Amino acid sequence: MPALALVLIDSFLKVAGGVAIGWLLRDASSKRSAENKPTGSGSPNKKGGKAAARRTGAAAAASSSPGPVPRPKEELKMVLCVNMSLKMGTGKVGAQCAHAAVGVLWSHYQSHNVAIRQWEMYGQPKIALKVGDESEMADLESKAVSLGMPTYIVHDAGRTQIAAGSQTVLAIGPAPKSQLDTVTGHLRLL
Ligand SMILES: *[C@@H]1O[C@H](CO)[C@@H](O)[C@H](O)[C@H]1NC(C)=O
Repeated sequence: MPALALVLIDSFLKVAGGVAIGWLLRDASSKRSAENKPTGSGSPNKKGGKAAARRTGAAAAASSSPGPVPRPKEELKMVLCVNMSLKMGTGKVGAQCAHAAVGVLWSHYQSHNVAIRQWEMYGQPKIALKVGDESEMADLESKAVSLGMPTYIVHDAGRTQIAAGSQTVLAIGPAPKSQLDTVTGHLRLL
């Protein structure tokens, strides 16, 4: 794939990732401010206030709370494995990669909140890789899931270019680079 296409895909993904992260943060902070609002209408007594404070604290600890995350020992990455047998055009590949990146963040932002924020610290690196033969994508996904990594497969709606339901891109991560390499280290760069 020509260098220009890669640059285009890269900037596209950065924007898409930024938008997704923005949404996630906004969602998390609006939930928090809702939790912190006093519930009763009258002036709360001291006991009630303390209990409410404890509840709020517990809720904050249980949910994907903000606060500083520890600096990771290792760089975190996201890989986007593109189904090459579909022979998608450049724009299509870019859009499908963006779907995958946004999808994996949306669906795992609570369960992998710390990893996602640590990945942000590194400038949310993403790598596009090629997959070709049949069951490969499913194998990669099940290996990644067994190691506790977030995954997301894009199924194309089939309105353009390719058949409906085709698996276009598998996103894995954010995850530590060495862990990702055990699953996708053998794949070629797109
Ligand atoms: C690519 O998509 C086709 C059509 O959906 C599918 O048959 C093939 O298994 C996919 N390849 C991978 C690596 O998932």
